[in-house]
Amino acid sequence: MEYRGYDSAGIALHQKDSIFNLRTFGKVSLLEDGMIEQRPKSKLGIAHTRWATHGQPSEQNAHPHASSGEVHIVHNGIIENYLELTEKLTKDGYQFESETDSEVIAHLLHQHLQSSGDLLAAMHDAIKELDGAYAIAAIHINDKSRLIVARNKSPLLIGVGLEENFAASDPLALSQLTNEFVFLEDGDVAEITKQSYQVYDGKSSPVTRDVTEIDIAVNAVTKGEYSHFMEKEIYEQPDAVANTINGKFGEDDVLDNIFGLDSSEIFRKIKRIQFVACGTSLHAGKVGRFWFEQIAKIPCYVDFASEYRYRDPLVEEDTLFVTISQSGETADTLAALRYAQEKDYLSTLSICNVPTSSLARESEHVLFTNAGPEIGVASTKAFTTQLAGLMLLAMSIAKSLDRDQELRKNLASELKALPEVIKETLKLSDEILSIVPNIADKHNALFLGRGMFFPIVQEGALKLKEISYIHAEAYPAGELKHGPLALVDDQIPVVALSPENTLTEKLVSNLEEVKARGGTLYVFGGPNSKINLERGAYIQMPECSELLAPIIYTIPLQILAYQVACQRGTDLDQPRNLAKSVTVE
Ligand code: F6R
Repeated sequence: MEYRGYDSAGIALHQKDSIFNLRTFGKVSLLEDGMIEQRPKSKLGIAHTRWATHGQPSEQNAHPHASSGEVHIVHNGIIENYLELTEKLTKDGYQFESETDSEVIAHLLHQHLQSSGDLLAAMHDAIKELDGAYAIAAIHINDKSRLIVARNKSPLLIGVGLEENFAASDPLALSQLTNEFVFLEDGDVAEITKQSYQVYDGKSSPVTRDVTEIDIAVNAVTKGEYSHFMEKEIYEQPDAVANTINGKFGEDDVLDNIFGLDSSEIFRKIKRIQFVACGTSLHAGKVGRFWFEQIAKIPCYVDFASEYRYRDPLVEEDTLFVTISQSGETADTLAALRYAQEKDYLSTLSICNVPTSSLARESEHVLFTNAGPEIGVASTKAFTTQLAGLMLLAMSIAKSLDRDQELRKNLASELKALPEVIKETLKLSDEILSIVPNIADKHNALFLGRGMFFPIVQEGALKLKEISYIHAEAYPAGELKHGPLALVDDQIPVVALSPENTLTEKLVSNLEEVKARGGTLYVFGGPNSKINLERGAYIQMPECSELLAPIIYTIPLQILAYQVACQRGTDLDQPRNLAKSVTVE
């Protein structure tokens, strides 16, 4: 579960007459070293990797947390009423050892155990007092055979094995142990033993949840010949995009209902689209907006998931609500979907990479991007496949609304050729490497683009900052003169995307303004460039269709960020302060 957080880690294991505990500050490998040294033996235990929310990363704040040395818990999520509970439990005599919100769970369980004497009953009682999001796993010193887990708004599943059972936040964590999973629902509590498991719903009644079979190829979760997961995932993009679009086309148009049963019928009614997502996935939505307006002729709104529901949005009639997410577990995106379900939307649709995720399960319509597991924190193949998925959506809606068949026909053949153009683009790697030294030693960078390439430079700037820690800002090139031009000097590299389209001339004028102020330009553009560079570099991109060019122009920015980070020697698959899947609000 390392990709969920890696600032500290810990483990608690049942031993003969005690519970073995080890917590370490820093990467999981340090915990591993400690385990190798101590070699504890056990058949029941819990472990956790942390991404700090309450309390800084430290050994003391690492999970598992314990109460009176008897109850040990791990928790993913945020307990919103933890201050209130801490006050109450402190009055009742409990002493807190960490600054986390999670420790209250251990003490609450301990308190309820005093009356019920049973960990399962205590869990049912304790969660009634918790507000917020949680996936909890708990063990008790006197209960050597049972693991008790509970879920609300944070993902949790049971991995079903032969004479062994597991619980985890993600099937990936168990992919080498089992291929049978039981996804718990909000309010569920489960009792897990070596031989069996039993799930109880929010009313404490036993329930049966379906067993889902998922085969995750082992090579999908290893780096293979590559130095980093991010590098592997960049190079997987031709296949990943091919997997997104495979089986979606007839001879020269997108097939009906590729977003699920009756989706084409529902699309006939659409008047507007509301996109909601976070980070890289939000950038995909911003590109999608151009496509929907140009291809399907439908107005679109795009919102940060973390902001959307707090602005009390007005929902216009026949608006389709679309979430975009690699993981399908991003807490803000999921909360936005749940908020939207209470509103008067035409339908909800998600573009998602993880079929078993909460987002995929809770949306009325879904398109899976089929990119395979993305492990590197910086999203790469998830983004380009989301774009391919959004293009499929724009075409599907245009088809349902009977708009521009000729354009759809051209797009269908261009999309089919896209994986080959991505392959060509990946060959630019050496050329990009030649500009890396001029960027890797700088503190700031500017990224410029126009139209649908503005979200692409936003994505490029995000990639550079998150893995190389160079401050990077993206601007629509025409906006430069309204302030940011003041930053331009010979110490700030300016990366620009200059595809050949109706905005090329305008962009070239903006780049001249940068040149005139001594800025060094690194431009990615088409073969007929009119930019005359005295410093910097011009890297020529392969030819591709105008509407699909945002997907192609993403690739060199990913490679650039990756190579700059390699040169700076950062831990780019696990950059500081970040986690791959952000399951807290
Ligand atoms: C950046 C990155 C993040 C994610 C964001 C949303 O490289 O990966 O910005 O895009 O946290 O995650 P998902 O797509 O899983 O909802």
